[in-house]
This record gives sequence, structure tokens and C-alpha cells, in this order.
Amino acid sequence: MSDKVIIFDTTLRDGEQSPGASMTKDEKVRIARQLERLKVDVIEAGFAASSEGDFQAISAVAAAVKDSIVCSLARANDKDITRASDALKAAKAKRIHAFIATSPLHMAVKLRMSPEEVLEQAKRSIRFARNLADDIEFSAEDGYRSEMDFLCRVVEATIKEGASTINIPDTVGYATPELYGDFIKTLRTRVPNSDKAVWSVHCHNDLGMAVANSLAGVKIGGARQIECTINGLGERAGNTALEEIVMALRTRKDYFDLICDIDAQQIVPASKMVSHITGFVVQPNKAVVGANAFAHTSGIHQDGILKNRETYEIMRAEDVGWSANKIVLGKLSGRNAFKQRLHDLGIVVEAEADVNEAFTRFKALADQKSEIFDEDIIAIMSDTASAEAGEHYKFISMSQHSETGERPRSRITLRIGDKEVSSEAEGNGPVDASLNAIEEVAKSGAEQLLYSVNAITSGTQSQGEVTVRLAKGGRIVNGVGTDPDIIAASAKAYLAALNKLHDPNQAKMNAQMTP
Ligand code: KIV
Ligand code: ZN
Repeated sequence: MSDKVIIFDTTLRDGEQSPGASMTKDEKVRIARQLERLKVDVIEAGFAASSEGDFQAISAVAAAVKDSIVCSLARANDKDITRASDALKAAKAKRIHAFIATSPLHMAVKLRMSPEEVLEQAKRSIRFARNLADDIEFSAEDGYRSEMDFLCRVVEATIKEGASTINIPDTVGYATPELYGDFIKTLRTRVPNSDKAVWSVHCHNDLGMAVANSLAGVKIGGARQIECTINGLGERAGNTALEEIVMALRTRKDYFDLICDIDAQQIVPASKMVSHITGFVVQPNKAVVGANAFAHTSGIHQDGILKNRETYEIMRAEDVGWSANKIVLGKLSGRNAFKQRLHDLGIVVEAEADVNEAFTRFKALADQKSEIFDEDIIAIMSDTASAEAGEHYKFISMSQHSETGERPRSRITLRIGDKEVSSEAEGNGPVDASLNAIEEVAKSGAEQLLYSVNAITSGTQSQGEVTVRLAKGGRIVNGVGTDPDIIAASAKAYLAALNKLHDPNQAKMNAQMTP
């Protein structure tokens, strides 16, 4: 059996199913390029049948990516599979990923189909997909809660029809490591043609065991593909964290004796990009990519580290892409230095007009803030990309008055469509007053689900990064705004969320919620 573990990244599909994490076409292309630099084997770019916007995004990722296989999810029916294949037309290497639920509960309640009907549909769909692509993955949704005998029949039949990867998801995060590892091992032993396919694991994190379960699927079960996401992004408690899987395989090579091709130094840049684009902040104590993952505060630890870093460190921060916050640019840096830094960060900007737009934003920021870090540049590029995607609501300027004992007031000027408008409002604090002032004119009526502020670098000089999550008409969106002034960052985040609600291409259906 091969000792290589295939890393299948589903940040752009399963990750996108996190509340509000839906990404635009350009955002998906930027993340896909970073995943390619990270050297993931397969990029699941979306679910083509979910919306015209997702179809376009998958097509754009397929055209942009050269080194990784690009994949689209599809329900096990001809229409979805055709849509997936069409979206992947430009891909150098493509995979169609068809799924159907196989657990008694899902078949009876969600699909309202008998097991025999599910088996027939699974077979038919893989036969159909094989006419459109060579590389076909089949997933038995809620596989871990399925009956073993039935699952063996489904898997054997789909391999016979030409599925070359078989994925057994723990869709609801119910598994425990040994049981899940044994489950995969039993399947591989009992399915007669199991050696004709690569076995894959896909674990959700509802009990905090997604990474452990995936590793057990590989170690005990013999799976050789792990499906995972950057920062463990994903529905509910999330999916398996790519960075933890990769560093566990690498750091404990003595135990797993397996390899993967990931360029670990691209992990932290990928984590920061995904966090910034989706508005999902990484918790400070998160393994590998959390801000404290390599921080040693206790005196004893610091002393040990100075004598020999291995006393308290099993990995090196620089090996996963952490670099001390470097001052990279300042007020006097020119356009060429800025362009060079974009290049060093792996940010591809094709049109000169876009470089100019980003450089103007950089200059404006350098006027406010003397030291510009990589994180600032990443934020500038995200803002530039959102502006290019078309902003119905655009921030122009604002002012506030807040004084102890008085209710804060805010005045804000925006462009809505092609009209410039101003409004004023009060609030509990200056942020609340500013968002109320926006609502005065935008009148979205959206419900605020989340507001969070984070500093993107250290110190009070840092830009504030604000995430606002809004809900309206069954849709949930996140908006992210950055600015040295956190009240302006809040207004920008609110407007970014309103822009997403305003964009019909952003409405997508969730693959697993539909029959
Ligand atoms: O969790 C799950 O079951 C999935 C499948 C569609 C692969 O995401
Ligand atoms: Zn999933």
C-alpha cells in the first residue's frame, strides 16, 4: 500500500458551509492559488449545482489552478453531475465528487428512498459520471452511521461502476478514533474490490475528534486520502483541520510512517488568508496556526527554550510559515517595492489598474500608520478585491462624537449605487451609533448575529479587523472590514456584509440539506 496520504482540501466547499462564510468568485480564486502553493493534491472548489455564482467560481478556479486536481461536489443525479463536469471544463486535472446518503435515518427521512433505490441511484450516477471524467469520487453521506452490510454493497457496486476514490464521511461528528479506524478497516476487508479504489476519510468536529478520527482512519483503517479544511472551517463545529493533520503526520512520522506533499511553510499564510476572507477568526490557542501556538510566557518554559528549544517545542514556528512581524514597507516605499512584496507573498495581480488601485490604498494606509506589515498588505488586497467585485454600498467618510455621560452620535457618508448620501444616528456606543447611521439610509432590516474585533498585528498601532454577521431572508453573510480606526473598520465590515446580501450570486444552497 502506498505511504502517501492524499490531501483533499474542501475549504471552498465544506468550509464555505460555515454560517456566513460564503465566498465570491475572486475570493475563491485567491484561496485556490494559495492552496496550490501549499501543494494540496485536490481542491474541492464548490458545489456547481448550488448556484450560478458557485458554478462560475468553480470554472474560474479550474482555469486558474494548474498543479492540483480541481473537484466539484454533486448530488448523485445526472443534472448535478453534468453541472459539475461543465464547471470543471477548463481544469487541467478534474474530479467529480458524487454523493448520496446511506444511513437508515438519512435514507428514510431526508431522501425518502428505500436502501435498494439508494443503491441503484448510486450505481447509475457513477456510471453516468464516468462518461464525463476519469477521476470519480463517491461519498456515502453519513457513512459512519450506515449499516455495514448495506454500505459494503454500495461501495462494492460504485467501485465496479468506476469510482476510483471511496469516501466514508462521519457527517455528524459522531465517531471516536478507534471505532472509526476499525470501521474503515472492516469495510476495506469486506469489500471484495476494495483494492481498486483509494479510501478517504471526511470527519466533522462535533465532539472535537475530527483530526484524531481522520488520523485513525489512516493509521488503523488504511485510508490514504484525508479531506480537510484550513483552520478546520466547516459546518457547525467544523471539519478536520488541514494544518493539524499535516503537522501530526510530519512531527510523528516515527508513528504514522506516512508522507504528504504539503509545503508546510505555506500553512500560516493560508490560515491568515482564509480567516481574513471568511471573517472566521482563529482562536489564539488553536494548534499550529493560533497566535499563541508558539508563544512561551512562563519563565520556566522561556529558560528551557533558550537552552534548547526542543525542551518545550515539538515543531518550529518558521517551519509552518510564522515569521516575526516584519516591518515590510512604510510611507516612503514606492510602487516597485509594493509590487515586489505582493510577489513575495504570492499574491498575483494581473491587471496594472488593479496594482494601481491597491497601491493607492497602501499609500492611504501608510499615511495613517507608519509601519506596514504583511498582514496589512493581505488586508489591503482583500479590500481591493471586494471593491472590484462591485460595491453597491461604499464607505466614504465618517465622524463621531462620544463623551462620558452622553449618548454617542455618529455621522456617516456613503455611496449607495451612484448616489452619495449622509446620515446621523445615536447608539449605545460609537460603533452602535455608526451602524445605526448606516441602517438609517440602507434600511436593510438585516438581523445582526455577530460582531467581533481583532487586531491583525500586535500593538495598538495595529489595524482593527472587524467581522459582522448578518441574516436576512434565510441567508447568512459575514462582512469583514479593516482600518486603524476600529469604528471605521466596523462600518466597512457592516457595508461588506450588506454588499454580500445585495449580490444574488452569493445565494447558494447547502448540498447536504437538500434531497
Ligand atoms: O459531511 C459530509 O458528509 C460531506 C459529504 C457531502 C462529503 O460533506
Ligand atoms: Zn462534510
